[in-house]
Amino acid sequence: MSTSAQLRSALADRLTEDGTLTEPEWRSAARTVPRELFTGSYFMPVAGSVPTSYRLVREGKPGWLEGVYSDDTLITQLDGRIRPDDVTEGTVTGSPSSSSTLPSLVLRMWQQLGAEVGHQVLEIGTGTGYSTALGAHRLGDANLTSIEYDPAVGEAAAAALKVAGFAPRLITGDGLRGDPDGRWFDRLIATCSVRYVPLPWLHQVKPGGKILVTLSGWSYANSLVLLDVTGPGEATGRFLPGYTSFMIARPHDRPPRPTLALLPGEERPSRIDPAKLDTWTGGWVAQLAAPSAERMGRGAEQILWDVSTGSQARTAPNPNGGWTVVQRGPVRLWDRVERAVQRWQAAGEPHQEGFGITVSAAGQRVWLGTEDGPGWDLPI
Ligand SMILES: C[S@@+](CC[C@H](N)C(=O)[O-])C[C@H]1O[C@@H](n2cnc3c(N)ncnc32)[C@H](O)[C@@H]1O
Repeated sequence: MSTSAQLRSALADRLTEDGTLTEPEWRSAARTVPRELFTGSYFMPVAGSVPTSYRLVREGKPGWLEGVYSDDTLITQLDGRIRPDDVTEGTVTGSPSSSSTLPSLVLRMWQQLGAEVGHQVLEIGTGTGYSTALGAHRLGDANLTSIEYDPAVGEAAAAALKVAGFAPRLITGDGLRGDPDGRWFDRLIATCSVRYVPLPWLHQVKPGGKILVTLSGWSYANSLVLLDVTGPGEATGRFLPGYTSFMIARPHDRPPRPTLALLPGEERPSRIDPAKLDTWTGGWVAQLAAPSAERMGRGAEQILWDVSTGSQARTAPNPNGGWTVVQRGPVRLWDRVERAVQRWQAAGEPHQEGFGITVSAAGQRVWLGTEDGPGWDLPI
């Protein structure tokens, strides 16, 4: 049977060979920090279950340590309250609310952030503390602050970091408000996603500093962006290649909605194939165009529902091989989505690295191609 050190070293080798781990300092962090100290027992999704159910992988049981050193996200809390220790047997359902993110993503992001020893770094979303420990190993305890929203999660992370021999500055609270002491940082990294860039971050990261964060929304689309802070309250950046997604920051989560009820509305042909919304970037473009809507359905049968205004759009195939859309309410959701998708198609359907963002006192605008290209305002 392999030991923790062997499995850890094998994971670091795999991540080096596949090109994820390019910097020796981060390779050393991956080889050193024992992930099992941070995860304990965890939940794994049951393949094919709808809605997704989770099985408990109990600490110390066969397969547990191998799971810890797989390149997988390990869920450690559901619905903001259910922890692995609360479950005794069988499977459980719920929405993941805390986890240890897959090591390849955490390490890739640390490298993309470009943090160096001597930089003051703020991490949002301590979670299990594993990414915090990697950061503390590379940058030093004194240079790292990490904020966790959930007190129980923060407490467990603090205990694990102590056992692992790290002592970064830990804060329990809403990281979207930044550091409660108003300190200045050179770098900010978020391991939860946001609907827009929180304004306090843009006043706590020094001009010349960087923010690495995933923008997401109520239709479940995600995109990782690296922002250069250009002045107080101002930043600009481009979205990065790949397929990065994170659970949404708790204060940015979608509002609760009643059971889906499809209501009558105006019908017309759709000018785009609704299945475009199932593609990674197509879904992202649709979310930019209709940020207050939640997307349900799939393929030709998409449903958009904005509960705050009661606006709905739903598509269906028609007998001629095309599609119809039914819309109701004050926000013509499909009109917006259709226009945005057509613009993206006219640009050749680039992946997200074809997009950028500008943040200023005038608002937050995601643009396609160049700053003066087509754009969409984020809902601040
Ligand atoms: C994907 S997990 C973090 C993974 C973690 N970095 C790790 O490697 O274990 C996201 C975390 O962000 C936290 N979170 C959500 N909203 C937050 C907020 N507004 N401020 C700080 N933390 C937040 C969640 O409670 C959760 O623990």
